[in-house]
Amino acid sequence: MAGGSSSQAPLVLVSNRGPVTFDVDGSFARGGGGLVTALTGLATHRDAVWIASAMTAGAVRPSHERGGRAFRIDTAGGEFHVRLVVSDAEAYDRFYNVVANPMLWFIQHYLWDLSNAPDIRESEVQAFEQGYKAVNADLARAVVEQIEGQDDPVVMVHDYHLYTLPTVVRAARPDVFLHHFIHIPWTQPDAWRVLPKRVREEIFDGVLANDIVGFHTRAYRWNFLQCCRDLTDYEVDFERGVVHVGGREVWVRAYPLPIDYEATRRVAASERTAHFEAELKRRRREHIILRVDRADLSKNVLRGFTAFDQFLEEHPEFCEHVTFIAQLMPSRMDVAEYQEYLERIEALVAIVNHRHGTPDWMPIQLKLRDDLEEAVAAYKQYDVMLVNAMFDGMNLVAKEGPLVNERDGVSILSENTGAHEELGEWALSVNPFDIKETADSIYRALTMSAAERTRRARGLKAAVTARDPGDWIDEQLADIRAKGAGSAVGPAR
Ligand code: G6P
Repeated sequence: MAGGSSSQAPLVLVSNRGPVTFDVDGSFARGGGGLVTALTGLATHRDAVWIASAMTAGAVRPSHERGGRAFRIDTAGGEFHVRLVVSDAEAYDRFYNVVANPMLWFIQHYLWDLSNAPDIRESEVQAFEQGYKAVNADLARAVVEQIEGQDDPVVMVHDYHLYTLPTVVRAARPDVFLHHFIHIPWTQPDAWRVLPKRVREEIFDGVLANDIVGFHTRAYRWNFLQCCRDLTDYEVDFERGVVHVGGREVWVRAYPLPIDYEATRRVAASERTAHFEAELKRRRREHIILRVDRADLSKNVLRGFTAFDQFLEEHPEFCEHVTFIAQLMPSRMDVAEYQEYLERIEALVAIVNHRHGTPDWMPIQLKLRDDLEEAVAAYKQYDVMLVNAMFDGMNLVAKEGPLVNERDGVSILSENTGAHEELGEWALSVNPFDIKETADSIYRALTMSAAERTRRARGLKAAVTARDPGDWIDEQLADIRAKGAGSAVGPAR
């Protein structure tokens, strides 16, 4: 830690989604998505307080019962200290459903079809002012309270929901060390030009109120530096990865997120997983193609099914011998684009199944649910895993699958995922927009020699066990210490 009494103080993490999602009856389940997976190990293994939004009606009560202060929750995955922040319901709706998702998420995954959307009206700007900034300010107040009395406080901020929080925290505590990790891609400058200049400036000023900004890959780090050059007046040192903001230096770094491979192996060895696996083995055809994703537009589910359709068309000899299992967790269902996407997925599955299916063979098996053990059982059994996201910050499925797979399964991996920087060498890389290439890759994977499959599967396993989330956080803490101690930037990460 940076020094002083903070060496004793718990690490403060802040993100929109916390480690667990509360139901109205008081029960809770593990929160979904890459961010929670990344921070869970950290928050259970270190002395940390995790500040998050009370996202559901069920989370408001436990927060109020503790007077908004931090409290302990024991879960199957370990124990957490959380502090849940309640925002005004309408402000939260605008924050989450208008600005963060879709606006920022769409910008940062190149999802807009710009001739149609977005329309920026008064209501969108109001949503930024009274929704996004208000929720950021609520969380910022909790952060400031949490670090009160600490000498050299360190706060780790997470993701695209919280771009304006650092401005507020910095204003209240100029001495704070703010480290902001962004879990999604950072897009090129023109993608940001859809935002009104004033909104854009507040976002960049917020991100640049941090001391260190971290990304999963060198490519996003580079895009961010380019954005600072083109969209702000600050001076950028590309060589050192530094943005000069007034008298301060902001370091821009890449810390690729590893998976908690021991935890994933434990899930793979659990009884519940074994139960799903036995069922899968009993019913399986010769080959399984698998995808596991949140049902998000960025995941490119439709082109994946279209590629499978084309593959079956070109290689009818595989009919009845292969099943495409798609486990998709419905997500952000209050956003119209997400609802419509799910409808389009279901419609396309019906078409492909109708076109190729037979009375006792359903080519695509669609499972619309979030069940970790069921997904991990399928990880163990696939022959081909398809990760064809259009753009994806990291994609942890691309790492978890090969870790526990027992059939030397082949990974087909989009070159636009963060994971591709580390795993591309061992996977079949695809351009996610190229349906023909994806269809050909399915054929190539299913007809690959055993020796080649083994070679690639070993490479993937070695790559995904090379580092763990402890290393990831240590790299960040080392940079925090180095910068806190006044060092110049070391070799660019
Ligand atoms: C991605 C984002 C996370 C987010 C998760 C789930 O992993 O980087 O910040 O939490 O998706 O999305 P949700 O909207 O359900 O929190």
